Amino acid sequence: MTTPVIIDCDPGHDDAIALLLAVASSELDVLAVSTVAGNTTLDKTTRNALTVLELAGRAEIPVAIGAAGPLERELVIAEYVHGESGLDGPVLDEPTTNPVDAPASEFLASIIHASPDPVTLIPTGPLTNIAQLLLDHPDTKENIASITFMGGAAEIGNVTPNAEFNIYVDPEAAEVVSSSGLPLTMIGLEVTHQALFGEREAEALRGRGRAATFVAELLDFFVANHPRTYAAPGAPVHDVVAVAQVIDPALVTTERCGLRIDTSEGLGRGRTVVDRWHVTDWEPQVDVGFGLRRKAFSDLLIERLEMLP
Ligand code: BDR
Ligand code: CA
Repeated sequence: MTTPVIIDCDPGHDDAIALLLAVASSELDVLAVSTVAGNTTLDKTTRNALTVLELAGRAEIPVAIGAAGPLERELVIAEYVHGESGLDGPVLDEPTTNPVDAPASEFLASIIHASPDPVTLIPTGPLTNIAQLLLDHPDTKENIASITFMGGAAEIGNVTPNAEFNIYVDPEAAEVVSSSGLPLTMIGLEVTHQALFGEREAEALRGRGRAATFVAELLDFFVANHPRTYAAPGAPVHDVVAVAQVIDPALVTTERCGLRIDTSEGLGRGRTVVDRWHVTDWEPQVDVGFGLRRKAFSDLLIERLEMLP
């Protein structure tokens, strides 16, 4: 049984690797990809998504252009992590394909309505496009199986001490998604900081095909450039964990918790307030990831990347 999925992303090194894992995995049927501004600007995240799909030999997967910035705020990008192109490291070919004509919200709604089976959404960037979809097309909820998003942290953040980047960029969008009533899985920093890829993994992949070598070159930059904050070898391939969790939910251990988003400005902006100990009367509506079967995760990723051209 394959799971129909839509990947909404802002590539970004880890988004690109997540896309490659998704298209290499027969458990998933990637119906569409949509792009959002986040790690870099929308023109670049769109170019990068097209380039990555073409590199994987999957240029037939439609790419829809989404939001150029958050619902209500100024865009904040992460050039300091992903470089000027958003995918610094390998030589980036310009794509020979084009995005679809329709804006992401319209296009995703049509794909969701047309799918015979409920669709799982996997957002790996700021949640702007997904919020827009739910606001513009609330009837799509009937055919959305769940949303597994990379974002948030139950404890400390990475862009501020309180907030993880994707939620910090567009907290209002995260609020729309978290209060949507849909089944949600949050892949936050507690899980993704266990998904470290470094020089050893880059060497395992280099020379094992075009896509695997591309990932090795992405890792060369990502690992060298990643803030040396976590006192650990390698860099967390955050977004890959969200895709891996949909492929094999047993890879991530979760706890069902209540969740609120801090949409204030100032210190708390973008904090995902996770009620792990059920000290409030909030409905526990989100499966929050805490643990990762690291070796199984890393074996899966390397094995699948080596299967690509
Ligand atoms: C998230 O922010 C981005 O830089 C990564 O692509 C990931 O989605 C991690 O905080
Ligand atoms: Ca991302």
